[in-house]
Amino acid sequence: MTMSIEPTTATLGATVRGVDLQALNETDWAAILAAFHRHALLIFPGQGLSAAAQAEFARRFGDIEVLVQNLDTIPISNRGGLDGAPLADDSFHMQLLRGNEGWHTDSSYMPIAAKASVLSAQVLPATGGETEWADMRAAYDALDAERRAFVDGHRAYHNYFYSQARIGHAVQAGQAYGFYEGEPPLRELVKIHPVTGRPSLFIGRHACDLPGMSAAESERLLDELMAFACQPPRVHAHAWTPGDVAVWDNRCLLHRARPYDHRHARAMLHTRVRGDAASEAALNAAA
Ligand code: OGA
Ligand code: MN
Repeated sequence: MTMSIEPTTATLGATVRGVDLQALNETDWAAILAAFHRHALLIFPGQGLSAAAQAEFARRFGDIEVLVQNLDTIPISNRGGLDGAPLADDSFHMQLLRGNEGWHTDSSYMPIAAKASVLSAQVLPATGGETEWADMRAAYDALDAERRAFVDGHRAYHNYFYSQARIGHAVQAGQAYGFYEGEPPLRELVKIHPVTGRPSLFIGRHACDLPGMSAAESERLLDELMAFACQPPRVHAHAWTPGDVAVWDNRCLLHRARPYDHRHARAMLHTRVRGDAASEAALNAAA
């Protein structure tokens, strides 16, 4: 079996075929890691990993960020279980899924933002429910002088309570998932990638409240920046087939789920790789 790595036509992403993620040799792993740093998103069709095998693959990128109930890999599903009943629309988990339909980067609202995420597809609706990624390296490169001066000089808080409130979900303190309830993390709008050294925009739906600006002005400026950033050729969507696996670099991409009819089941498995304190800690994180 010969591994092939085929870039998409967008500025990010590549499809990797001819490799079994459960039987990687060191040469192929080195090529995958190099491709991950270059393309920031890798899609592996037809791997059919179990949750345990997915966690094992994720662990190659770093330590797992445990999100809930000591699970390495969590279901991102609109059913109670894989064949379970639909979740109530106002349930915490359904609101979380709706939140995923907005551009974001994982765990930016935590004191240490995520490094990478691995997502695989198990059950899919007939239409919709793709996942889409946007390249914040290319977005930074495309900024005009005025926008570049603005982002170089500003920071934003990243706040899950803010982003969920914006979609009508009033998150209560002490709810599931251990969301961080201290002062929201403060982060630069420009992030330097710890491996490649490339600058990228670090924004998304959790970003808000630029110090020195009103909440409304922050929201307007960040919305405008996100609309500019998340445009072709900087976006790539993947229409899933069950068994596909994707891994992406949260340090330089945004992602979102595309809408679908929530009366139909959609079940994914998610494993999150913890960021490094040296590069992913918030500016206001306790030392
Ligand atoms: C995630 C996420 C998007 C999707 O798992 O972090 O945002 O398409 N998922 O389910
Ligand atoms: Mn996500």
